[in-house]
Amino acid sequence: MQQSWNSDRRRTAIGRSTLSVPARQALADHQLNSDRTILDYGCGRGGDVTSLRRLDCKVSGWDPYYSPSTPLASSDVVLLTYVLNVIEDPAERRQTLKQAWNLATTVLIVSARLTWEKAKVRGQQFGDGLLTSRQTFQHLFSSNELRTYVEEVTGTRCISAAPGTVYAFKDDSARLGYLAHRIVPDAEWLASADTTSAIASLVDYVERRGRPPHVEELPRPMAEQLAHLKPGELKRLIRDSADADEVAEGAKRTTLNTLLFLAVELFNSRGPFSSLPLSVQLDVRSFFSSYKEACQRSDRLLLKLRDDTYIRGAMNASSVGKITPTALYVHRRAIDQMPTVLRLYEHCASVAAGRPQYWTIAKLKHQGRAVSWLDYPDFDKDPHPRISSSYLVDLKTLETSHMSYANSANRPLLHRKHEFLGPDDPDVPCYRRLTQSELRAGLYKNPHLIGTETGWEAELIRCGRKLRGHRLLRRTED
Ligand SMILES: C[S@@+](CC[C@H](N)C(=O)[O-])C[C@H]1O[C@@H](n2cnc3c(N)ncnc32)[C@H](O)[C@@H]1O
Repeated sequence: MQQSWNSDRRRTAIGRSTLSVPARQALADHQLNSDRTILDYGCGRGGDVTSLRRLDCKVSGWDPYYSPSTPLASSDVVLLTYVLNVIEDPAERRQTLKQAWNLATTVLIVSARLTWEKAKVRGQQFGDGLLTSRQTFQHLFSSNELRTYVEEVTGTRCISAAPGTVYAFKDDSARLGYLAHRIVPDAEWLASADTTSAIASLVDYVERRGRPPHVEELPRPMAEQLAHLKPGELKRLIRDSADADEVAEGAKRTTLNTLLFLAVELFNSRGPFSSLPLSVQLDVRSFFSSYKEACQRSDRLLLKLRDDTYIRGAMNASSVGKITPTALYVHRRAIDQMPTVLRLYEHCASVAAGRPQYWTIAKLKHQGRAVSWLDYPDFDKDPHPRISSSYLVDLKTLETSHMSYANSANRPLLHRKHEFLGPDDPDVPCYRRLTQSELRAGLYKNPHLIGTETGWEAELIRCGRKLRGHRLLRRTED
């Protein structure tokens, strides 16, 4: 069936040999699994459908051009991947989104190409987009535009899973389950092949979470291994084996994680207690006098996000990250060690605009509210990693901007790598040794010169030094 479109939409569908970026994201976010039915709405040539079938997913694909005869049935998950961009008629675009939403019973996953790809799309202005020389249409969205558009059409609060990918959940429990998983990933259980190791695993959980698990939180094999023990016996075993200090530490950590979750939830949209994931409900019951008290404390935490002095104080007190006159920079590996209010800062930005797939360092401004995720692909290998891209979200306007340094001849680079990491990071001693050698060699005497590749190279030459891995050598040495 050929539609009477004003552009040649079928030509926008590419052949895919691997999963699309949005489908990979959804897989990583546990939204696509073999228990759920999936509909790829506007599936094009069906590359994602084929790949997901290989992963044992129950998936079907419908496309008005390529697969018009697939029966359209309601499905747990509906994917609408790069479809909205190519529809030139705004009324039809909206109708397509609405139709996809009506077909989803748990979550609709909408992806669209973003304005930062502007340079890759050439064409003549046509309606609210461009008509290319191949007669294909592209309306590029800004990140914020896509989220607010999906929110408006579906009438629900959405979460940006990544730049250009938005999740719209059918009910609060599905949304909050995802949010909780994103903020505090489920604790890993130690393997438990027999009763003794099942008890060790249980004790480990209690020490990390600060409370015993509810039977519904146990992995099934473990629940079976422990089923013959009476609740009293289990309690005694835990009391005798768990380290009291570790349990107290775990309780503190979980309390802060719960506050963080409830504050992000408030930022995104608060649901009733019954829609919280079971583990969060149990955390609230264990560590707060009531849900009301937990909400009040988390609301205060969210309010602190507006307080420049408080945020600056938290940055100064942070045991991880490098503070500069404008911002705190923290490596991805150390992000969860930041004070809770700063973790909240970063999470709010990511829920609004989506964290990019690749990033190494988060930059949190202390004046104004903006988070950038910076990508240094060779952070571990390169003694002075060069930036490849940055993605910024302004929390006041929710506007985003993206910068690629792929074609830049003189990229900004990093020094003193250890400062971005936590003090217990295994790489810190090596990075610190290099910094000390560079300091002794006089390489940091002209800080205004060393921030980019050419300036840094020139300073290395001026000081008669060169780098081999993380070792600083004299230039004459080989
Ligand atoms: C850029 S392709 C994306 C294909 C596929 N989702 C992927 O990511 O590989 C856009 C697809 O949207 C389909 N499409 C166009 N108008 C549509 C509409 N009104 N409803 C659903 N799909 C539509 C086109 O046939 C085309 O296959």
